[in-house]
Amino acid sequence: MRTSFVAGNWKMNTNKAAAVALAKAVAQGAPKRIQVGVAPPSVYLDAVGQAMAGSSVLLGAQDVCQENNGAFTGACSCEMMTDLGVKFILTGHSERRHVFGESPEVVAKKAAKVLSCGFTLIHCVGEKLEERDAGKTLAVVEAQLNELDRQKASDAGPDRVVIAYEPVWAIGTGRTATDEQAQEVHAFIRQSLAKRWNKDFADRVRIQYGGSMKPENAKGLLAKPDVDGGLIGGAALKAESFLAICNAAE
Ligand code: PGA
Repeated sequence: MRTSFVAGNWKMNTNKAAAVALAKAVAQGAPKRIQVGVAPPSVYLDAVGQAMAGSSVLLGAQDVCQENNGAFTGACSCEMMTDLGVKFILTGHSERRHVFGESPEVVAKKAAKVLSCGFTLIHCVGEKLEERDAGKTLAVVEAQLNELDRQKASDAGPDRVVIAYEPVWAIGTGRTATDEQAQEVHAFIRQSLAKRWNKDFADRVRIQYGGSMKPENAKGLLAKPDVDGGLIGGAALKAESFLAICNAAE
């Protein structure tokens, strides 16, 4: 049985006071029988971690540098994340890929670093609208799964490997994939993971859905057999809507 994992990706939102207040409310209301996490802006990781001290909610980072240390202006290392109590790190988010221009090579290096430094990885995959319209969804997702290092993921084990399927056309647009569209790609991802590792490994990997998930559509998506939680953007910025999604997952 997979434990559902619902993570909030706050992106470049909140300020310090709002981040701390949101973290406290999430820590207080989060259901205990699933895994819940929040990824605040990195400058607030410390404050948010302290606000959630003693709770079961995991602290996550939205991005990290693929290098250990040195002349990388503006970047944060895995060691710094460890220092702050970070437990999971996102890689391959569509905004990193398409707004910041991260190449598959860079995404792959980041994912490998995250796994070898002992974090849980949330590796994001998903097609753009024109790719879906051209019938390329599964090929795009497959190529993005190729960014995962076989040996490093094996060594980390399936509990530390999480895939987030986020169709780019559904992120922040209010347009969600239908339950069936999500399930089709999630089932494909699991099959693909089984080919890379084995069925037992694939059966234990959590596959989150992301892209305009909100309390109104969460139940239907989360009821699908291969949807094991969510990566939530906009709806994670209010404790009420985020916790409603967490409760739907529970
Ligand atoms: P959204 O973002 O829920 O606002 O669509 C999801 C994400 O980008 O992780």
